[in-house]
Amino acid sequence: MSEEVLVELRHVHKKFTTRHVLPVDEETRKRRLFKKRDVHAAKDISFTIRRGEIFGLLGPNGAGKTTAVKMISGLVRPDSGNVFVNGLDVEKKRRRILRMVGVVLEGTRTSLWPLTPLENLIYYGTLKDVPGALLRPRAHDLLDFIGLKDKKNIQVRRLSRGQKQKLAICIALIADPQVLLLDEPTTGLDVLSGRAIKDKVMEMTREQGRSVLVTTHDMHVAQELCDRIAIINNGEMIACRRTDELLDLFSEQVFVFKLNQPIDPSEFSLIPGIVSAKMEEGSEGPALVVQVVREPETLRSEALYAVPARLRQSGCLLHAVSQRQQNLESVFLHLTDSAVTR
Ligand SMILES: Nc1ncnc2c1ncn2[C@@H]1O[C@H](COP(=O)(O)OP(=O)(O)O)[C@@H](O)[C@H]1O
Ligand SMILES: [Mg+2]
Repeated sequence: MSEEVLVELRHVHKKFTTRHVLPVDEETRKRRLFKKRDVHAAKDISFTIRRGEIFGLLGPNGAGKTTAVKMISGLVRPDSGNVFVNGLDVEKKRRRILRMVGVVLEGTRTSLWPLTPLENLIYYGTLKDVPGALLRPRAHDLLDFIGLKDKKNIQVRRLSRGQKQKLAICIALIADPQVLLLDEPTTGLDVLSGRAIKDKVMEMTREQGRSVLVTTHDMHVAQELCDRIAIINNGEMIACRRTDELLDLFSEQVFVFKLNQPIDPSEFSLIPGIVSAKMEEGSEGPALVVQVVREPETLRSEALYAVPARLRQSGCLLHAVSQRQQNLESVFLHLTDSAVTR
């Protein structure tokens, strides 16, 4: 991955106001319009995506992921702040940027179903001014690359959902964009199709030097695919870090003490430096699970000394001590629970 930045969002805000139109009033014959509340789809969002990087936007439904994708591709204009692609301001250079960015929006019917995949690519390539001599070979290459080789000449409506999604990615790639935006690319696909798409996304990022933005509400997709992840919730960015750092952040904090018998965890919660303590009954017997502070180091160390000392005092046998590997799901719950890290 290079240091070159291909996409940048700088302090972007976007608010939607939803209006409800009521039926005509019988007495006054007037139609009343009332404003519903404002929805913040982006509150001061800033991040960058480098060349050759897969960047993930992770968040629950309604968090603002699709809005961010639309702002990068010039489909939604931010209220304030700037979006740059390859150093160009999307608002000022919209037409040029349309050629640099390929986008697959969630659930949209991009492809024309009565045509074949090959015809679709020729059609979209022509719309995007891909020179004729390049277009045909590129269309064939893309279909071979994504795994639709033997479906080239079958009407799109006869393809499976996963195959249609693969075709949508080919359509997004037909003008050879440097930036590819994939909105929930694996949602609704079976395991095999999802796997195939993830593999292809990795391949084209690493080998072809593109930048890819993937939005997802699926922690596993984010954890597996992305080099860096921004977690957003209600339009706010609550974390933006390398995926391994995000996981380490919490793995460092949770320790599991396997015991021969259950013990009252409440006295452990009172030890300075311990954030929480609870008993878990696993298949291998009871375990005391404690979360310690990350910093300061001395407090953390004291807390870690105190636990086995107290277990010994109470006559417990200690079978094993381990650090709990965290997954993104628990990190996400931690972060949305309390905005600890930024
Ligand atoms: N065109 C629009 N008009 C009104 N509200 C919108 C519009 N687009 C998105 N929103 C609202 O903005 C919020 C973020 O939406 P979206 O970006 O689609 O979230 P996500 O993709 O993370 O599920 C939601 O509350 C949604 O209802
Ligand atoms: Mg969405």
